[in-house]
Amino acid sequence: MAPTLPSVSGPFHAFVARRTGMALSDLQCRRLDEKLAARPGGLSVQYLLHLQSPAGTADLAELIDAIAVQKTELFRDEPQLRALRTHVLEPMVARMRRPLRLWSAGCATGEEVATLLVLLAEVGADPASTVLGTDISETALVRARELCFTAEQFQRVPSGVRERWFMPAAVGRYTLVGHLRDRASFLCHNLMDVPYPTAAEGQGFDIIVCRNVLIYFTPESFDRVVAALAGRLAPEGVLVLSAAEPLLRTPPGLRTMRFEQAFFYVRAPESAPSTDAVPLGAVRTPSSSGLPAVGARQHLLKTPSSSGLPAVGTRQPLDTGSAAPAEVQPGEAGAHPEADALFARVLEWATSGGEASPQATESLRRCLTLDPDLAAARYLLGMLLEQRGALAEAAGEYRRALRSLEVGRARATPFYLNNARLQVACARAIERVERAAGPAPAR
Ligand SMILES: C[S@@+](CC[C@H](N)C(=O)[O-])C[C@H]1O[C@@H](n2cnc3c(N)ncnc32)[C@H](O)[C@@H]1O
Repeated sequence: MAPTLPSVSGPFHAFVARRTGMALSDLQCRRLDEKLAARPGGLSVQYLLHLQSPAGTADLAELIDAIAVQKTELFRDEPQLRALRTHVLEPMVARMRRPLRLWSAGCATGEEVATLLVLLAEVGADPASTVLGTDISETALVRARELCFTAEQFQRVPSGVRERWFMPAAVGRYTLVGHLRDRASFLCHNLMDVPYPTAAEGQGFDIIVCRNVLIYFTPESFDRVVAALAGRLAPEGVLVLSAAEPLLRTPPGLRTMRFEQAFFYVRAPESAPSTDAVPLGAVRTPSSSGLPAVGARQHLLKTPSSSGLPAVGTRQPLDTGSAAPAEVQPGEAGAHPEADALFARVLEWATSGGEASPQATESLRRCLTLDPDLAAARYLLGMLLEQRGALAEAAGEYRRALRSLEVGRARATPFYLNNARLQVACARAIERVERAAGPAPAR
């Protein structure tokens, strides 16, 4: 009889977390457990080894599908897309006069790919421009390849887009027009695996959009993936993360482009040729991914524990399928100019690659004395404390930030996180810190 694992599903959680890069939330662990419990034969060492072997690829994919968050929308985060169009796409089209190569990494069911194709068409990009969509989930990609959406999905899409770029398909559904569809391609790719895709003829991508994917990742996987994505950018190429995934530790070779509604990261013009940074737990993928098969498991690379600031939003899995929090009513922005200035200074220093220092913590504390409801600053303070191992103090700051968000006192900040996302981020951070701190002592 197969030996049974001592702590039942723990090693399965750890393996799935390592393969996906995700920091699994309690909800994801529960979903995984439900899936594992439904399996006849129980959990055994053999089954774990099976999941780790090429023969277990399909079973592992099912487990990953059970926990992956595939929430997406057409024209998701319109203000960010507007900034992308004005500050990145239009200048690129004017400057480059050649087909552009875009990659939507973690494209889920294809809405982001369709959105990028429409944006390219609207800015008059060369008609041979392409968009590659990749995702870890083949199930999501099956839908993505259709590039076909329901009428409801167009409710928040800018007016005229549906009429210009989509055609009626089956009842109540609209499909992207043929000449744009032809510019899309899809590939099953796990961001934890190397090699990463390249554009045609091994070129780098002009724009890589990886939004709402890395927010679920562990900080180590987040950093590794960002470095690997940066390695796949063409010189002067642009990396687009979501507003909830700002880089407070911009990797070498990337610089931050700031706009009121969005941040982008640009690769230096003279950057070295693309390399494959190996993400933590990376496995060279078998050919099922569509990428060259390289075979054996890679040695797990450990990221040196960085003394830089944590990236806001990197550690908190969001969108876990639980009901989305209500958008809070932000307080009056700009009501505390001194607090805003202090917070801005900490961010300025952090995005230019500064080391986490006691001064940063002090500045944040001062800022919070002036405005206790600047929840983004309190969240950042929590992250600094957490990074230093002051878990109880960190949890306290996260809780206070969450409270002011929940009661609607939190003031919106033009930086990084919107309050609805920040609320989820705080809740997840509390969960994470409490788990790391272990069970509360008996009273
Ligand atoms: C919330 S969706 C984001 C979709 C789209 N980018 C957007 O912002 O609307 C996250 C997607 O990332 C994918 N994903 C999660 N882990 C991944 C990994 N390790 N490699 C590639 N894709 C991954 C999930 O399957 C899911 O489709």
